[in-house]
Amino acid sequence: MEIILMLIVAYLLGSIPSGVIIGKLFFHTDIRDAGSGNIGTTNTYRVLGPTAGTVVMAMDILKGTLAAAQPAIFNVPVNALLIGLAAILGHTFSIFIGFKGGKAVATSAGILLAYNWEFFLIASAIMFTLVYVTSMVSVASMTSLTLVSLIAIFYYQDWILSVVAVVLTIFIFYRHRANIARIKAGTESLVHFGLGWRR
Ligand code: G3P
Repeated sequence: MEIILMLIVAYLLGSIPSGVIIGKLFFHTDIRDAGSGNIGTTNTYRVLGPTAGTVVMAMDILKGTLAAAQPAIFNVPVNALLIGLAAILGHTFSIFIGFKGGKAVATSAGILLAYNWEFFLIASAIMFTLVYVTSMVSVASMTSLTLVSLIAIFYYQDWILSVVAVVLTIFIFYRHRANIARIKAGTESLVHFGLGWRR
């Protein structure tokens, strides 16, 4: 019963569409109608600027962290990552926006933060380095998740973490299929630090 309640809370937390809320509340803009149409950090940054993007990233990470921290908070013996997966479902199929949603990169990071903060820092460093090197957040996201899976399997040797990371990697590639098509066509948008975005 406690596990079912935690899964429901995790799904509802994940469903909070941070990008849509910040866009509508402070910019009178529906982020779904602008840029890539995605509701996450990257598109918020792209369309509404770095402050809004950073706030959305923090909110999306936090909801994953809160969702996955429930077993520790309520002292229930269930793996944090398994509860956290319900937040991923909420983020991508949000009950508040017609069962649509984002690509789950920041929310996945939030779950990792609740599970192993050191690995979260390593994963974040990998992600930001790859964004800097490739100038494509989508490429950085997919590559980071792949590397996180490999580190989970070969370094941490934690089978639940490894299975969840591999499942999330496959899921995140699937969620990025429009980006993959744009990368192949050479039309994926680029971010240049200090210079903004260009198409
Ligand atoms: O986390 C999402 C990012 O990898 C891509 O976002 O807006 O470029 O589709 P976007």
